[in-house]
Amino acid sequence: MSSERVQKVLARAGIASRRVVEEMISQGRVTVNGTVATLGDRADPERDRITVDGTAVSVMPDAITYLLNKPAGPITTANDTHGRPTVVDLVPSEPRVFPVGRLDAGTEGLLLLTNDGEMAHRLTHPSHGVEKEYLVHVRGSPKPGALRQLREGVRLDDGVSAPAQVALVDSDVIRLTIHEGRNRQVRRMCEAIGHPVRRLVRTRIGPLVDRTLEPGQWRILTAEEIVDLQRSVDRSAPMPKR
Ligand code: URA
Repeated sequence: MSSERVQKVLARAGIASRRVVEEMISQGRVTVNGTVATLGDRADPERDRITVDGTAVSVMPDAITYLLNKPAGPITTANDTHGRPTVVDLVPSEPRVFPVGRLDAGTEGLLLLTNDGEMAHRLTHPSHGVEKEYLVHVRGSPKPGALRQLREGVRLDDGVSAPAQVALVDSDVIRLTIHEGRNRQVRRMCEAIGHPVRRLVRTRIGPLVDRTLEPGQWRILTAEEIVDLQRSVDRSAPMPKR
């Protein structure tokens, strides 16, 4: 794709109206490849790195990101060689999208799928650690000491888990917020404190929540939600400059 005026690229990506974007450019709030943009500058949305107020924004034309409420069952992969049901089967087949991170087959709840490789990369990069919140139904009733262990860090075979936010919402249900994304992390943490998981539901990804989606339902993220998500990525830790 060839270059276009920066205000057109940003307006189409849903950052703000063309007029407001022009103001942002005049105020020096927009950069293209590290240089402050001026009105009339052009950018190639597929190649150039554009930031607004220091936050890199995804301006890929035709980018689409779905928020899916994953039911228990399908596996999180873009193509399963064994023909098993996957999360990609639950969203439209065109344009082709792929899951951002993964939920175990038995895990339910919010999962992003996108065709925007840059955004997926930023969201899953370990240096960012976007917060993820889970509702965890466990065996038994965790006592304060067990919850404290979750809060402070649990010894796992790949190292101690980072401090987590923990709240007991019922005698056997924990709200757990973590920002690491290790394999089967929540299940392993709960197993380690002697309360294996019975049911696991992801209820939040960074700023994204949705209590209206039924299991198996999806919706397209709004431009505002995408900007919020990108802000949350930038807040969690800066990405090394490329
Ligand atoms: N932690 C897990 O153990 N499983 C998931 O699917 C997500 C987080």
